[in-house]
Amino acid sequence: MAYARMLIETEGLTKQFERRRPSRRPWDIVKRRSVPVPDPVVAVDDVTLWVRAGEVYGLLGPNGAGKTTMARMLSTLLEPTAGTARICGFDSLRDAGAVRARIGVMFAGERGVYWRLTGRENLEIFGRLQFMPGQAINERAGSLLEHLGLAEQADDLVETYSTGMKQRLNLARSLLHDPPVLLLDEPTAALDPAAARATRELIRTLQGAGKAVLLTTHNMHEADEVCDRVGIINEGRLVAEDRPAALIASAGIEPRLELQLRGDVAAARRNLAADALWWGEVQEDGTIAVAVSAPAGWRSAERVAARLTEAGVTVIESRLREATLEDAFIKLTGSRLGGSFESI
Ligand SMILES: Nc1ncnc2c1ncn2[C@@H]1O[C@H](COP(=O)(O)OP(=O)(O)O)[C@@H](O)[C@H]1O
Ligand SMILES: [Mg+2]
Repeated sequence: MAYARMLIETEGLTKQFERRRPSRRPWDIVKRRSVPVPDPVVAVDDVTLWVRAGEVYGLLGPNGAGKTTMARMLSTLLEPTAGTARICGFDSLRDAGAVRARIGVMFAGERGVYWRLTGRENLEIFGRLQFMPGQAINERAGSLLEHLGLAEQADDLVETYSTGMKQRLNLARSLLHDPPVLLLDEPTAALDPAAARATRELIRTLQGAGKAVLLTTHNMHEADEVCDRVGIINEGRLVAEDRPAALIASAGIEPRLELQLRGDVAAARRNLAADALWWGEVQEDGTIAVAVSAPAGWRSAERVAARLTEAGVTVIESRLREATLEDAFIKLTGSRLGGSFESI
């Protein structure tokens, strides 16, 4: 098998931000000065990874994990504190121009396009900025607008677009010059389910076309579905990296039982202590949602239910689930994605 080229490479990539707080000294307050204080934030901490041509790599992690900071360093927008980032062999600091010509970048948020122009005009301008010939711009813009479901509104002003439409236009812009490397920061974050699905399909097409795609996401279903490999990032550190199925397998995760309970929280906790408790939360309606290991499948489930009933806790609903990437994430980081971990 031919060894595919590494199009994205980082080595020991690190970004440290100084925390700035308003000073308490009167003179600084008068001058509205903020001064650096110790304990900097290490947003990205010694990350080494690579992405091959024809590979979709997902950087999966909760809010504040350092995903956007990674994407900004790779796209030359932010200077690393230490380590290196290379795109197609070009260094993001020394050869920033060569890097920019080879990447398509999309950041979450709506400010990647001009609101006072139409969708099509936006793509024309960005195409010219990339020195694309006029005909190539027209053809490519037309096909991308079609592909991303924007054909009908192509000649409407962007300010009339919904958030999801602006985001899709943003994605079209990043793909316009057909770059070999795509850096997509939460590309489906503001999209409705249908648009998110279309975007995921498009990303798979890019993979088929031999692009190297690095996408960030806090959505584990997305990571599982779209990515060839996933790097789990937590507090700036890459804590695990593999194919989604391998991550699940290597975390040694058993099937788990999800229960919805009504009754005394303390009694439930006492009676579940013997089983490995994954997580538990008291819901708004006063019921308790818990997940426990169920190594013996339904037999474990019956045993757990019997013990809870004995303790006066009602099982409203129970569901047996195969391990998912989210389970692997919980196991590896001790926290849940996209929400706080709150043990009962
Ligand atoms: N410009 C900045 N100045 C100071 N701290 C920052 C800056 N940008 C990000 N951070 C901090 O770095 C950490 C990682 O942020 P970010 O990369 O945006 O995470 P994510 O994209 O995974 O949500 C967070 O703690 C965030 O507050
Ligand atoms: Mg982010």
